[in-house]
Amino acid sequence: MKTLLRIDSSARIEGSRSRLLGDALEARWRARMPGAGVVRRDLAAEPLPHISATTIAAYYTPAEERSAALTDAVALSDRLIGELEAADAVLITSPMYNFGPPSALKAWIDHVVRIHRTVAYDGTTFRGLVTGKPAFVAIAYGAASYKPGGMLAGLDHLKPYLEQLLRFIGFEQVEIITAEATNGAAEAAAGEFDAALRTIEALDSLAA
Ligand SMILES: Cc1cc2nc3c(=O)[nH]c(=O)nc-3n(C[C@H](O)[C@H](O)[C@H](O)COP(=O)(O)O)c2cc1C
Repeated sequence: MKTLLRIDSSARIEGSRSRLLGDALEARWRARMPGAGVVRRDLAAEPLPHISATTIAAYYTPAEERSAALTDAVALSDRLIGELEAADAVLITSPMYNFGPPSALKAWIDHVVRIHRTVAYDGTTFRGLVTGKPAFVAIAYGAASYKPGGMLAGLDHLKPYLEQLLRFIGFEQVEIITAEATNGAAEAAAGEFDAALRTIEALDSLAA
């Protein structure tokens, strides 16, 4: 059975525009993969702890040399990476908070972007290890003008960050859908949101 791993990160469970875009992407993916399953990680409903000094020590200690405490310290990271590895596709929904990702999503990232597990380093170059599956990302911005040339384009530390990060760990196909102006005038917000839905409908990679 094909599996979509869906990661939601808006603190809002109701009324979240990024989650609604995620619903549309998920629906398209399900239509394309009849009988597929979805594994959900709701980072607002069930927040992850931040990584600790012990987690970091364990990341850099070979598995066969880890004490019981160090093994415990990477158990959550191992589980989250296992979900990423097992999935056939990944969907991340994210609001922009203070020009970057919400801390809930950053906590997940710090558990899954991990040397020897999701990225290899040979002393010269990094090589992503999460390969062979697409990533879909839905982003909601409260303000407008983040698009190239826009007034706030230089302050978008979310879209380029997520794209580069996913490529860093191996994703070759990263499709990012955005809706701006969610806090703007109703007409502008609706126009942006409808355009994002149309972009999802037109995604070749999700054609049924
Ligand atoms: C703590 C916080 C910080 C925010 N920072 C920004 C920001 O830097 N830029 C922006 O355009 N919108 C910002 N917003 C607005 C959100 O991006 C907007 O409401 C978005 O729709 C939230 O996603 P959601 O609808 O999925 O909850 C912020 C909202 C909150 C709650």
